[in-house]
Amino acid sequence: MSSRITQAVIPVAGLGTRMLPATKSQPKEMLPIGTKPVVQYVVEELESCGVTRVLFVTGKTKSSIENHFDADIELRRALEISGKQDLLDALKFESIGASFYYIRQRAQRGLGDAVSYAEDFTRNEPFIVGLGDSIMIKENGGPGIVQRLCETFETRDAAAAIAFQEVPRENVSKYGIAMPAQEGDVFRLEDIVEKPSVADAPSNLAVTARYVFGPEIFQALREIPPGKGGEIQLTDAVRLLIRKGRPVYGVKLSPGERRLDIGNFTSYFKGFIEVVLKDPVYGAEMRRYAAGLLKQLEG
Ligand code: G1P
Repeated sequence: MSSRITQAVIPVAGLGTRMLPATKSQPKEMLPIGTKPVVQYVVEELESCGVTRVLFVTGKTKSSIENHFDADIELRRALEISGKQDLLDALKFESIGASFYYIRQRAQRGLGDAVSYAEDFTRNEPFIVGLGDSIMIKENGGPGIVQRLCETFETRDAAAAIAFQEVPRENVSKYGIAMPAQEGDVFRLEDIVEKPSVADAPSNLAVTARYVFGPEIFQALREIPPGKGGEIQLTDAVRLLIRKGRPVYGVKLSPGERRLDIGNFTSYFKGFIEVVLKDPVYGAEMRRYAAGLLKQLEG
C-alpha cells in the first residue's frame, strides 16, 4: 500500500553539545557517516517512502544543511568540463524530487517546541517526523519503519504512530519509554514517559527517532507545560493525546533494522565504522586495514 502521507519534518535545531568540539561551528547532522552527511541519509530514506515536501526546523550554525541540498551549478559545470563523472554521480542527490522548506526555532526549548514550528507547513494533514541525527539501517526486505508507521497510522485511524526499539534496561533514561497495552510488533500505547529512571521505566521499549502524527499533536504541544530539562517534550504531548483517549500506536523495529544515533561520540564512531566497513567501494580495503591495525594494537 502506498501511503498518502507525503510531508515530513526534520528537526535539526539541537546544539549538539555532546559532540564538542566537532560541532562548535557545524551541525552534528552534517557530520559524515562514510561518504555522506548524516542528514542526507535521512532525506533519502524519507524520499524513498514517497515524501515530496520536507521542512527542516533549523537553528544557529545550521546553514550548511541548506547549502548541502541546493543545486551547485558552478561545481557541476567545473566537474563536467574536467570530465569527472564519478564526482558528478556523487552529486546526484541534488536532484532529489522533494521540495525543501526551512524554518528557524527561535530558542532552544526542546524537541516538542521544534515540532510545533511545523504547524503551518503541515496544512492540517498527517506528517512524518524524522530526527535529523539518526540513520535507519535496514538489512532485510519489505517495507521500512517509516512505511510501517504510515500504514499503522492510516489503517488504525491513529493520532500518532511511533517507532520503538528494545534497549538494555540500564539505558532507559536516555529515551522516551513506552507502556504498551499489549505484546506484539504493533501495539497500542497505554502511556509513555520521557527519560524515566530505571526503577520507574514501564518497559525497555524506547522511542527511536521516527514518528507519524496527525494535526492534533499541535494542540497537545500547546497544552503541555515544560517537562524534562525545562523543555517542551514531544513525548509529553504524546502522553497527553493518550490521556485524552486518542489512539496512539507503537511499531517495533524489525530484527533487520537498527537505528544509528549520531548524538554522541561513541554511537557516532560505531556508526561510522560500520558503514565504512560495509561500503561497496571502500569496504574491502577498510576491512583489511582495520584487521591489520587491530592485530598491531593487540599484539
Ligand atoms: C529524543 C526524544 C526521546 C527519544 C530520542 C530518540 O531525545 O526526546 O524521547 O527516545 O530522541 O529518538 P534526545 O535524543 O533528543 O535527547
